[in-house]
This record gives sequence, C-alpha cells and structure tokens, in this order.
Amino acid sequence: MKIAIYPGSFDPITLGHLDIIRRAAACFDRVCVCVSPNAEKRNQMFTPEQKLQLVRTAVADLPNVEAELWPGLLADFAVRHHASAIVRGVRNTTDFEYERTMAATNRRLYPAVVTVMLFTPPDVADISSSTVREVLAFGRSVAEFLPRGIELENYL
Ligand code: PNS
Repeated sequence: MKIAIYPGSFDPITLGHLDIIRRAAACFDRVCVCVSPNAEKRNQMFTPEQKLQLVRTAVADLPNVEAELWPGLLADFAVRHHASAIVRGVRNTTDFEYERTMAATNRRLYPAVVTVMLFTPPDVADISSSTVREVLAFGRSVAEFLPRGIELENYL
C-alpha cells in the first residue's frame, strides 16, 4: 500500500490544491491531507476546524483521500500514517525555492520519506489562498477559485 501525505495551510482550499490532491489520489493508494492550523501565521482567515471542513467537502468524491488536522511536525504526521511520500504542488520559481528547502528539512527529519513535486496546471497556477482571502475581504465572489460545492460566505 503506497500512502502519501499532502500538507498545507488550506486557508482556504482552492482549485489548485484540489488539482494536486486529485492527481496524487491517482498515483497513490491513499492520500492523507494534513491540514496545518499554522498558528504562527497571523493572517489566517478560517479556524482550523473550518479549514478541515472545507477540505473534507472538497474531497468528498475521492474515496482514497482523507483529511486531518495536525498541529505538529509534518515528518511525524508522515510516520503516523506510514507514508512513503510527501506531495507538494509547485506553481512557479518562488514556490520552487521554498519547496526545495522544505523538502531538504523533511529529508533530514525523516529520510525514509520522499517529497514528490507536482506542477500546478496553468489554468489554476495563478490561484492562491492569499489572493482568495484578499478578494473575499473586498466583498467579491471567489467561486471561480474554489472547488465546486464550497461556499465561503457560509463561514464568514
Ligand atoms: O500551504 P502552506 O502554507 O505552504 O503549508 C505549509 C506547511 C503547513 C506544509 C508547513 O508550514 C509545515 O510543514 N508545517 C509543519 C511544521 C513542519 O513540519 N516544519 C518542518 C518542515 S519545513
């Protein structure tokens, strides 16, 4: 059984995240989405429980995907789920540098796990949770950035 974890802040989950989850779910037997409360990031818009609920709604049609809140180290989440891979999405060169450092750190902490990078397709590569939050803060609809069935207005 090949298990991958897909970690992130998901504040909120976007179409870009869902694209990565769908493709990871096609590559691995099981994908465990690790929702980080990321308490150190001061600009979080949604509570950890809301973020988890949004992720679970978005992946409801994917039988081999589950989601959990995890306030600890990613490497420990990977051990807990017997994962052999950490999946991350890369949109651009800015993401790449950050991901390279994170992958190296996780390799030091847990050498048995590999980090697998998936490139975000161009049609959703401009989407980020931070731009969704910004557009939302100005009262505009963000439906086109989000997985179907997610209505953030219900959470605000
Ligand atoms: O969606 P994000 O904000 O890019 O996700 C960042 C996240 C949650 C993956 C990262 O902050 C993280 O791994 N947090 C857990 C703490 C940890 O394991 N740190 C060591 C690896 S850098």
